[in-house]
Amino acid sequence: MSRLRYLTAGESHGPGLTAVLDGVPAGLRVDVAAVDAELGRRQRGHGRGARQSIEQDRVRVLGGVRHGRTTGAPLALFVANRDAANWGDVLAVEPPEGGGSAAEPVRVPRPGHADLGGALLYDLDDIRDVIERASARETAARVACGAVAKALLAELGCVVASHVVAIGGVTAESGMDREDVAAVEASPVRCRDGAAACRMVAAIDAAAAAGDTVGGVVEVIAFGYPPGAGSYVQGDLRLRSRLARAVLAVPAIVGVEFGLGFAAAAAPGSRVHDPIVHDDERGYGRESNRAGGIEGGISTGAPVVLRAAMKPISTLREPLGSVEMGTHRRVESRFERSDVCAVPAVGIVLEAVVALELADAALDRFGGATVGDLVAAVGAYRRRIGER
Ligand SMILES: Cc1cc2nc3c(=O)[nH]c(=O)nc-3n(C[C@H](O)[C@H](O)[C@H](O)COP(=O)(O)O)c2cc1C
Repeated sequence: MSRLRYLTAGESHGPGLTAVLDGVPAGLRVDVAAVDAELGRRQRGHGRGARQSIEQDRVRVLGGVRHGRTTGAPLALFVANRDAANWGDVLAVEPPEGGGSAAEPVRVPRPGHADLGGALLYDLDDIRDVIERASARETAARVACGAVAKALLAELGCVVASHVVAIGGVTAESGMDREDVAAVEASPVRCRDGAAACRMVAAIDAAAAAGDTVGGVVEVIAFGYPPGAGSYVQGDLRLRSRLARAVLAVPAIVGVEFGLGFAAAAAPGSRVHDPIVHDDERGYGRESNRAGGIEGGISTGAPVVLRAAMKPISTLREPLGSVEMGTHRRVESRFERSDVCAVPAVGIVLEAVVALELADAALDRFGGATVGDLVAAVGAYRRRIGER
């Protein structure tokens, strides 16, 4: 059962993206500058294309917030596409005067995109409709919603952070502390290991020079998330299943693992499971956190840790083969302005979707019409299980 729900609408080159975020308790302080800061973080990172310098994303709050605080009503968030002016006729709502088409129809589907599947599914002669909505530009709307979820989690003492642990086959150690956040943000690839970051930059530059692209892995960590969220009683309530669904809903994400992840499959149980301990101040806990903060579908109170793998960007400057729809002629795929690597940026999107899911699971468990109700319920639960 979802308390916090959101939907997005809008095209990549249309007027902008709209999100409706429903279920936010009343009384949450919403700082527009903080939402804009998250939008800005999504636009940065070595390997991104020219578009990011055209648009400095800003949110307009069109509903649900009054005098800086949520009212309990749905939030309406709008992020304008600054590039829209150059696309007016192509994406106009009204049909072109005199009939016909305002732009040359796109008929060559790009491999690794929704282009072919979408054109067949919706019976389109022009792939433009697919390109516009399947574009990862939509993730800006999710980041705006995620910024609100982050503000809600902050009320519970929870911070969601991320860092890059692999790009183009160059790897860095997983694991980060709250104190590492500044170093991660200062890195051009959001990697806290400076030497690995240099090699990652080189891998991106080499791919760019070859007309190719690279993917990678991002680790997301939620510090301070309360214990007791999620459940084992139904599969869809399990916290891992909820988070996996949210993470895999991000374009280009092809895999997710929690805690030790796939490495757990090769290790003996004695080196996988976390011994249980008790402390008079902190109540029950675990000696280690190899489970990644979730056992039996329920948060343990330890940091929630997951890693997500991003495939390389699909649009290549040295294009792959394709087929023109209609004529079935073999042609080279089209190149449309594109990133070489968006792994640093996807970390911000992942933080947003993880924050939304964790906030939703917390609201499901602890409820509350106001932020004060929620904070009080979490505090009462912590006391009941013996935390001081
Ligand atoms: C933040 C972000 C930026 C992206 N930028 C691009 C891009 O510039 N060019 C591109 O071809 N794909 C880009 N992608 C990936 C595509 O959106 C995605 O791979 C594509 O829509 C196909 O969907 P699928 O990966 O779910 O199969 C980006 C993804 C994200 C999350």
